[in-house]
Amino acid sequence: MKIAVFAGDGIGPEVTHEALRVLEALALPGIELEFGDVGGVAYRNQGHPLPETTLEIARRADGILFGAVGDFSCDHLERALRPEQAILGLRKELTLFANLRPATLFAGMEGFSALRPEVAREIDLLIVRELNGDVYFGDKGTRKLEDGRRQGWDMMSYAEDEVRRIAHTAFRAAQGRKKKLCSVDKANVLETSQLWRDVVIEVSAEYPDVELTHMYVDNAAMQLVKSPGQFDVVVTGNLFGDILSDQASMCVGSIGLLASASLGERQTQYGTLGMYEPIHGSAPDIAGQNKANPMATILSLAMLLRHSLGLADAADRVEAAVAKTLADGIRGGDLGGTASTSEIGDAVLARL
Ligand code: IPM
Ligand code: MG
Repeated sequence: MKIAVFAGDGIGPEVTHEALRVLEALALPGIELEFGDVGGVAYRNQGHPLPETTLEIARRADGILFGAVGDFSCDHLERALRPEQAILGLRKELTLFANLRPATLFAGMEGFSALRPEVAREIDLLIVRELNGDVYFGDKGTRKLEDGRRQGWDMMSYAEDEVRRIAHTAFRAAQGRKKKLCSVDKANVLETSQLWRDVVIEVSAEYPDVELTHMYVDNAAMQLVKSPGQFDVVVTGNLFGDILSDQASMCVGSIGLLASASLGERQTQYGTLGMYEPIHGSAPDIAGQNKANPMATILSLAMLLRHSLGLADAADRVEAAVAKTLADGIRGGDLGGTASTSEIGDAVLARL
């Protein structure tokens, strides 16, 4: 079982280190790790945020554990050389089109949510975000208009097969949960969204057991803080999913708790090829200070074990250890506590 480890920039290496300690403690037989550079560090070492050597490691992996990328010192570079291109490139190159972002309130975390405890307590949802299309990957540029004004432009589009495959992922996920799927779009304004909605409705014919609803993204943003308990699975496009998933993270207390899986179509010997990353970024302001919460990365490792390596029992153990650590009151600065990155890692290991 090959795991590619791309720790990246900022707090990426620190949080990834803790996840690897957890992996080691599980003592699973037959795991091989391969390390690669991504992001700003890859640009400095190899001249590109996603070097060919890293892509090769990714291609032969069963699962990829990804830390974070992002580095202010790269802001002046042309877009193709910026750290974020590592994530976008891996998602595209490996056709990782389905981003699963669960948001569940851990016991005892009610007081840390940006929402009132009685509202926060209801949250148990999964955002299924499309990851290979939308305005993220359309043609883009800046141009001069005839009157001399500069104009930036980004083309938004979805082809029906792109919508169909993510819709299937979402319906199947809903079947494994409370059988409720809410498709989020902006069909009152965007043609892209109208097609999205039409295709999701077509696909729904194959899932009569799942209750499908539709919501405009502005309303969804509002409902997510008003009564998040109404959501089970939410399926949406790349841009809307990016925004709503950060919003969901504050509803459960900290972005330091949210893991994600980016799954493709390729089946490996043990499961589905995927990349796993905390949804937080590289947090350069606290990088190298042993302050970051590694839980989102540890939970991402659990998702890797479950989805890419078929090791559901090990995944359950890791998730339970994190939940127990939180319940025991061990918290980092993101949750008003004082535990350092390595202390949180120690605490999870002790409970494992
Ligand atoms: C995320 C991030 C990325 C995205 C950035 C870093 C390109 O915000 O994974 O949510 O927008 O998809
Ligand atoms: Mg984001």
